[in-house]
Amino acid sequence: MEVVPLASADEIAALAADTVEALVRARPSAVLGLATGSSPVPAYAELVARHRAGTGPSYDGVRVFLLDEYVGLPAGHPQSYRATIARELTDDLGIAADRVHGPDPTDVQTAGATYEAALLEAGGVDLQLLGVGADGHLAFNEPGSSLSSATRLKTLTAETRRDNARFFASVDDVPRHVLTQGLGTILRAGHLLLIATGTGKAEAVAAAVEGPLTATCPASVLQLHPHATVLLDPAAASLLERADHYREVYESKPDWQGL
Ligand code: GLP
Repeated sequence: MEVVPLASADEIAALAADTVEALVRARPSAVLGLATGSSPVPAYAELVARHRAGTGPSYDGVRVFLLDEYVGLPAGHPQSYRATIARELTDDLGIAADRVHGPDPTDVQTAGATYEAALLEAGGVDLQLLGVGADGHLAFNEPGSSLSSATRLKTLTAETRRDNARFFASVDDVPRHVLTQGLGTILRAGHLLLIATGTGKAEAVAAAVEGPLTATCPASVLQLHPHATVLLDPAAASLLERADHYREVYESKPDWQGL
């Protein structure tokens, strides 16, 4: 795992955008795995700004797979993850709606198997953007999730529903059920790029990066992946014991290596 402590959320956004663009330039038919939530929003805004400025690559051949989706929201609800990603990124990059895939919340019994099959048929995710929950959840894999789980129905913890209440009128409006890629699904992506900012994420980041591999901290599953990168602002990195070493490693990397 490569841990990259950076000076600000803006630096994270720029580096994440560089990484997405480099992939799409090298592989115009790339499969992007996208997260919703607040963490990747500055990176998405940066990608859109570059695209509008005409400096970004063409996204015409790109396909997108979402990490997760709420169950029970009316079709087209603005907080559905499908609507969110269209609004925050894919519409502005010119990625057609039929190239954006997510688990189908209208058919929860078959959605998991159908989504796994669609991921396989697409050849798998090349680059998976990730956030992390304050309780260490990854996508919507709450603590206790199997480290080799597949896409399936999950029940949110009360903490996650409270955390996500800021996107709804009240906590009662946050769905209890979700569909999420499993931790085993996420591990199949070629490159994992996790973004965490703010003190609220510091404990989860420390547990995921420096704690034991455990289902109690689902994000610790990154320790099993051969190519995982963690981009942190100073607040999110504040509880890491080896932050100085991670900084030194990053600063002394050869240029050709990239992330
Ligand atoms: C949400 C999402 C995750 C996200 C995480 C952190 O509930 N399902 O994909 O990474 O929790 O969210 P945020 O980035 O808003 O802190």
